[in-house]
Amino acid sequence: MSDNQKVEIPKIWLLKKPLEVGKIVKNPIPYFKNALNENDGLIKIIMTSRYAVMTDRPEIIRHFLQKNHKNYIKTKIVRNILKKQIGNGLLTSDGEYWLKQRRAIQPGFHRKRLEAISHIMINEITTYMEEVMDKYAASGEVFDMSKEMTHLAYKIVSKSLFSGSIKDDELDLIETTISAAQNQVITEVRQPYLKLWMILKGEIKRNKQLRKEADKTIYKAIEERKKSGERHDDLLDMLLDTEYEDGSRMSEQQLRDEALILYVAGHETSANALTWAWYLIASHPEIENKLLNSAYQTLGNEKPSFEKLRELGYSLQVIEEVMRMYPPAWITDREALEDDEIEGVELKKGKDVIAFIYGVHHNEKYWDKPEEFNPERFTPENKKKQVPFSYLPFGGGPRLCIGNNFALMEMQFVLVEMVRRYKFEIVKDQKIELNPLITLRPRHGLKVKVSKR
Ligand code: HEM
Repeated sequence: MSDNQKVEIPKIWLLKKPLEVGKIVKNPIPYFKNALNENDGLIKIIMTSRYAVMTDRPEIIRHFLQKNHKNYIKTKIVRNILKKQIGNGLLTSDGEYWLKQRRAIQPGFHRKRLEAISHIMINEITTYMEEVMDKYAASGEVFDMSKEMTHLAYKIVSKSLFSGSIKDDELDLIETTISAAQNQVITEVRQPYLKLWMILKGEIKRNKQLRKEADKTIYKAIEERKKSGERHDDLLDMLLDTEYEDGSRMSEQQLRDEALILYVAGHETSANALTWAWYLIASHPEIENKLLNSAYQTLGNEKPSFEKLRELGYSLQVIEEVMRMYPPAWITDREALEDDEIEGVELKKGKDVIAFIYGVHHNEKYWDKPEEFNPERFTPENKKKQVPFSYLPFGGGPRLCIGNNFALMEMQFVLVEMVRRYKFEIVKDQKIELNPLITLRPRHGLKVKVSKR
């Protein structure tokens, strides 16, 4: 393509309006959405000496995530900051090493494995309802659904990974460690000038210490499992069984890194989707009834199962629509290895390109009345009509979320179990605001009351 056919990407200076910076840092979503709407889905965000291209155009996103993915790696934020905090695992590695690990770990998420894990999940959800939710129902007290769903998702991922090998107090330690690491990453990315303050306050040293303790716990669980020779059919068994093409196996350090990454990637995303799900379900009684009836129709009073998932299609539609409106991973980004071009849009070597997933999911070009919660968009017939890459809660291309089917199964089980047992009521007069951190959370949590049906 000749120079005069190149697309000029409109520039947006993030720091040009100092008075607005605070607001943008707090919640950049409306700002990005407006800027993209006004500029045909493509902008260049200038931050002092750096810039990144941002887009909500499915064909461009598809290009760098899928069609020419070989030209793209994770950005410096992942390579230099996140990797230091959580290790070199599937989410944070690139190139040959990533491919080797992905090939090795993928079978752990195949049908047969998910079927085994489904029993662990259902047990965990039942225990959780009996030990926690039933008590809230009995007392009638107000609680934060966001905290509860985070705790439940932690338990589910922990039991699916390690069965009973991580005790509750050890799980609390891992939870605290991950949360501290995430806060550090967010501060280093959004307010790098506060790093010195974090060092002075001793926060960075404290986080390192926490990480050491959490590592010890994970190493101990791995060692105990190896020694015991017992089988649990969980993800740890799968990681231990993994054999590379040359017959070698993962080192302790690799096992630890991959396990921690599964914890990190596998809890907050599902927890947020579930929190938003309860928010939307409780505020749409007609959809709540439809979900309730469809769950009873398929299951009666029985527990759900892996075999029944196919018949629980409406719960899947609800979950998919929840993640359209509130995609837990609201952006994803890459860095170009070499100069590249798509339809005249230049993506330069060494520069970042950002897929604004939230923006694609709320774009009128691809969704009729995008602000309406309507699970009918995800009937099997309607799904066929969707533009490729206009719906991407799990990303796309070869780095598509490895836990997507795990997460969908987990969320379907939670919905059909809890909707049949409880009715949730959203406390009135609370502010529901977006808090787009690493994942998209409700800023002030979600206060609810629960009663038994
Ligand atoms: C609602 C739940 C979830 C959502 C919305 C979600 C979303 C995503 C997205 C968007 C990516 C791609 C990131 C990128 O393009 O850079 C990703 C990657 C990943 N996710 Fe998930 N995820 C969810 C649940 C899970 C669960 C339950 C697990 C594990 C048990 C998991 C493990 C991973 C891993 C390991 C990767 C990295 C894959 C790779 O690069 O090869 N995720 N996830």
